[in-house]
Amino acid sequence: MPILRQENAQHAESCTTVGIDDISVYIPRLFVPTAGEFASSRGIDPLKLTQGIGIERMAIPDAHEDAATMAAMSLLDLMRRNDLAPDQIGRIYIGTESAVDEAKAMGTYVIGMLEDIYGEGAFRECSTVEMKSACIATAMALESLSYWASAEDRVGIAIASDIARYPLRSPGEYTQGAGSVALLVKRSPRLIALEQVYGSYTRDENDFFRPIGCSTAVVDGKHSNQCYLDAVREAFLSYSRAAQRRGIIELEEGECVSDQIDWLLFHIPYPRMVEYASAEILREEWRGLPRWRRVLEETGPEAEEREFVRRFSRSRPFLEAFGSKVRETALISRQVGNIYTGSIFLGLASLIEAHRLSPGERLCFAAYGSGCSALVFSGIVQREGKTLLPLGVLERLGMRRMISVEEYERLHEGRAEKSIIDPCQEFALEGIDGKGYRHYCYVG
Ligand code: CAA
Repeated sequence: MPILRQENAQHAESCTTVGIDDISVYIPRLFVPTAGEFASSRGIDPLKLTQGIGIERMAIPDAHEDAATMAAMSLLDLMRRNDLAPDQIGRIYIGTESAVDEAKAMGTYVIGMLEDIYGEGAFRECSTVEMKSACIATAMALESLSYWASAEDRVGIAIASDIARYPLRSPGEYTQGAGSVALLVKRSPRLIALEQVYGSYTRDENDFFRPIGCSTAVVDGKHSNQCYLDAVREAFLSYSRAAQRRGIIELEEGECVSDQIDWLLFHIPYPRMVEYASAEILREEWRGLPRWRRVLEETGPEAEEREFVRRFSRSRPFLEAFGSKVRETALISRQVGNIYTGSIFLGLASLIEAHRLSPGERLCFAAYGSGCSALVFSGIVQREGKTLLPLGVLERLGMRRMISVEEYERLHEGRAEKSIIDPCQEFALEGIDGKGYRHYCYVG
């Protein structure tokens, strides 16, 4: 093991740590391939979708699913994987922008569903809150829970659950997806010990929002890309300053902060975005260092910005860093699309599924929420991560059912009268009564 990683691992073991102990992922069983019928129905070159955007399949929720059932599914899986009893869970924080109610916390519906299995009142001493801050909400929930858990015997669970839905035939349509991720947060975590250094950036923006009563997002696509890049760059700089101030990162001559990061996990609205984000961060970091000369030898001088970024993104130093620190984090997102606040943690699940994590490695998470804000923080991979049960995400993704564009459009517009796959061993929305209260059940 390289010396730095060994030191990271030893340091984490010598302190009381808190962080992510385990993760579970739920993705609906239906998908639409972006190439083929979808691309031709929209008159788009399929290569634009699979390569230019980077999404091959978009996960589509069935008629009996919503963000609450998906959250309940990822929570149930997490509890079963870890043999967790309800009374061991003190907090359930849910990050979502797909709320099913304007007042009632989604977690209360989720607890109701779980009590179908664990018995009425099983979660009565557990608190739950719903957090909304576009795609950054679950990262904020994780930060908050990690401070709570550091002084607690019980565990906390942060859940991300969302349906990314844009108007039919809009440019956002081919970045849609759906799913939920649950994170087990506790002391002495087996997977990632958080370093508790956070960098933030916030400003008021109109890049992406969903006014009350609208079922799809209002988005200014190109502007949203720029807001994402600005916010992530500034939050990364804020993290870098804090990491050096707190002494978790000490730079040698000619080094930059990203040199001491093994994996950069970005929010993934679509896989190409992590390439744009990496180019933004690495350009910022490398400019002024001796290696910049090597970059300029390939790109030529910095002239018009768009053209320079394009050349930088094709340069060998960039491609090497992107290939070794970032590319594989988008493995699952290529097969799922955007799941909003959970997407960054699909990056973590991707690295686990690809067996790419080693003890002592530093992971840096860069979450982005439209509107807009970014949160950057880091954690160290723990030795016990190897003892976790396999996640099985890729295997389950391979077992999904492909649906036609007509079936997809019916589900998208809420016109599907029945489910495409009858619910089985899962939570389902049974109906919404005259007052607007939602009724869920577990179908065995
Ligand atoms: N073959 C290969 N590549 C092709 C191609 C072809 N035939 N045609 C185009 N491309 C490439 C383009 O060259 C471009 O790549 P480069 O940047 O390297 O040039 C890429 O495909 C994208 O094409 P466009 O620039 O034409 O993009 P678009 O008009 O299709 O819009 C989008 C893309 C803005 C992301 C749009 O899908 C959108 O609005 N999405 C929703 C908003 C979004 O996801 N924003 C991201 C930041 S905000 C955020 O992160 C929060 C969140 O979750 C929503």
